Amino acid sequence: MAVTIKSPREIELMRKAGEILASVHEELAKALHPGMTTMDIDRLGEKLIRSHGCIPSFKNYNGYPGSICVSVNDEVVHGIPSRTRVLKEGDIVSLDAGVIYKGYHSDAARTWGIGQVSSEAEKLMEVTRQSFFEGIRFAKAGNHLNDISSAIQQYAEHFGYGVVRDLVGHGIGTHLHEDPEVPNFAMKRKGILLQPGMTLAIEPMINAGRPDVNWMDDGWTVVTDDHSLSAHYENTILITEGEPEILSLPAFGKE
Ligand code: MF3
Ligand code: CO
Repeated sequence: MAVTIKSPREIELMRKAGEILASVHEELAKALHPGMTTMDIDRLGEKLIRSHGCIPSFKNYNGYPGSICVSVNDEVVHGIPSRTRVLKEGDIVSLDAGVIYKGYHSDAARTWGIGQVSSEAEKLMEVTRQSFFEGIRFAKAGNHLNDISSAIQQYAEHFGYGVVRDLVGHGIGTHLHEDPEVPNFAMKRKGILLQPGMTLAIEPMINAGRPDVNWMDDGWTVVTDDHSLSAHYENTILITEGEPEILSLPAFGKE
């Protein structure tokens, strides 16, 4: 599939999808507390998404059973919501959510601490978030995709962290996953030339330890091989003539 350039009309719809997703994440973050189950998060997330007239993108995607991916501690991504998985103080939890608004997708992830977490966990979450922002400094027309990918890797590895290789970001639009793939690590090739109207989901997955991951027997949950903590931070962005627009963060170009 070719990389698509979104029309002004499509960009408007993706802005709206992003704005709704940003508010869903804000509500989820406020609701987090020790004692809640990962299924509680999924139920609330799905309710919020539908209350905005959207569809949860992940539900039934390749058979994924949830609306929100909830990944705790050494789980990297794609944790399946469970009635028996109870969050406790000190856990870190990655929430990944997607919405479809009038046929257009937005995809974003955040990692939060439950109550007080270790300073190691705090640092991992902050570096993961910052690695996204280091990457999108290069998300400009005229640059190549690999400029983003290498900037993310360089930043995260500077702290001794492991950048997950087995999963990558992606183009996004009428489909959750479109071309191109967006690695969080340097490739030998430059990758595509970035052009205004491209929409990308950039999503560093960073491990406190080594980059290696495994898939659990449920077929979905990805865990770190060395059981070190892992964090995930993702936004849907738009390449413009100037600075990138972060569609899935609040107060971005909406004043
Ligand atoms: N942000 C993840 C991704 O881009 C979400 C997909 S989870 C799935 O791949 F359940 F939909 F597969
Ligand atoms: Co994604």
